[in-house]
Amino acid sequence: MNNPFEYGAAVSGSAFCNRTTETADLMSAIHNSQRAFLYSERMMGKTSLVRRVLAGLDPEKYVAVYIDLWATDDEASFITTTAREISQAMGSDASRVLEVAKRLFSRFSPKVSLDDNGIPKVSFEYNPTAEQARQSLEEVLAAPQRMATESGKKVAIVFDELQRILEYGDDHVERLLRSIIQMQRNVSYIFLGSRKHLLQDMFLNRKRPLYSAADHFPLGPIKVEHWLPFIQQKFETTGRQISKQVTEQICLLTQGHPFYTQHLCHAIWEKLAAGEEATELDIQRGLQVLLARETGAYSTLWESLTVNQRRFLYGLAVEDHPVSLYSRAFVQKYRLGNPSAIQRLSGALLKRDVIDRDARSFVISDRFFRLWIRERED
Ligand SMILES: Nc1ncnc2c1ncn2[C@@H]1O[C@H](COP(=O)(O)OP(=O)(O)OP(=O)(O)O)[C@@H](O)[C@H]1O
Ligand SMILES: [Mg+2]
Repeated sequence: MNNPFEYGAAVSGSAFCNRTTETADLMSAIHNSQRAFLYSERMMGKTSLVRRVLAGLDPEKYVAVYIDLWATDDEASFITTTAREISQAMGSDASRVLEVAKRLFSRFSPKVSLDDNGIPKVSFEYNPTAEQARQSLEEVLAAPQRMATESGKKVAIVFDELQRILEYGDDHVERLLRSIIQMQRNVSYIFLGSRKHLLQDMFLNRKRPLYSAADHFPLGPIKVEHWLPFIQQKFETTGRQISKQVTEQICLLTQGHPFYTQHLCHAIWEKLAAGEEATELDIQRGLQVLLARETGAYSTLWESLTVNQRRFLYGLAVEDHPVSLYSRAFVQKYRLGNPSAIQRLSGALLKRDVIDRDARSFVISDRFFRLWIRERED
């Protein structure tokens, strides 16, 4: 029997839990041809969510293009990646894909081959000069509008790992994106990526081209009430049991963060024999396995922190969320001097991604590190 809990890559199908409201919100953003900036802490499920949303769009009415910019490192690779995904989004028929690619991107000399699953893959023989690249960029970014007009459908473009464009050397792509996304009709754009600070700066900093160019869609943890049926059903369909109470305990420990919840469930399930029921003791056992694996890295990180940073983190780890950090009680209890120190401490830890902001307070980014800290005596 395979472990039913998946963590690491984006999840889909039966491995995907809830997100009903978020899915509806993004669908309506696409329907209204909005521009959306989807952001969250690391591994909160952004990629899984947008892929789910795109997969749910009616192909009779929408053309969905998912563009992962992870592998791009300059303007030329941005251009070819975008052009490739746009062409491939036009269908599963190789000759149709080639026809679209030739029409939209004639000077890139497109070619189509079939992958192992028989799905058409586009490649380009394209080695532009800097000047040609500049022109091609405009051509590529104009393509979504042409698709919308020619097909009579709405077009949804997703740029994932958008922070990569910051490494292209100049802000040409960013500036051009700004100008085209505002002019296009019946085209929606969803922007996301795995580096929240960098992306927030792109959309929140007045000096940046994309400043206020998109509506904000924050993504938070999954609620216990949604995890409950999901987790219980996964145990049951694989011949194991888990009570409501034990499931709630898991969600409390992971704060409902999707990656850590799946990871912990995976570890607990792994230790159960067929027919067994998971207990609180199994949670502890599963957690011990996970923490033991990370303890080297966690110790090194802990050692690198100042005494006050450790006290601050300890307080954040043991108190119930949301923690009122600026309160005198918190500062006194964890011997942090005075409330003005909090700003400096949180600033330094934010910069190192040890903590993150959420809607109400701060959270320790790595939920297992949080649990590791809670077990410390000092
Ligand atoms: N809706 C969901 N249901 C169940 N598990 C989920 C869900 N969304 C995310 N996960 C879990 O979280 C992990 C990370 O998901 P995903 O890659 O979509 O997050 P992300 O926010 O795009 O991450 P990154 O910040 O690295 O880009 C998945 O491997 C899965 O374990
Ligand atoms: Mg992602």
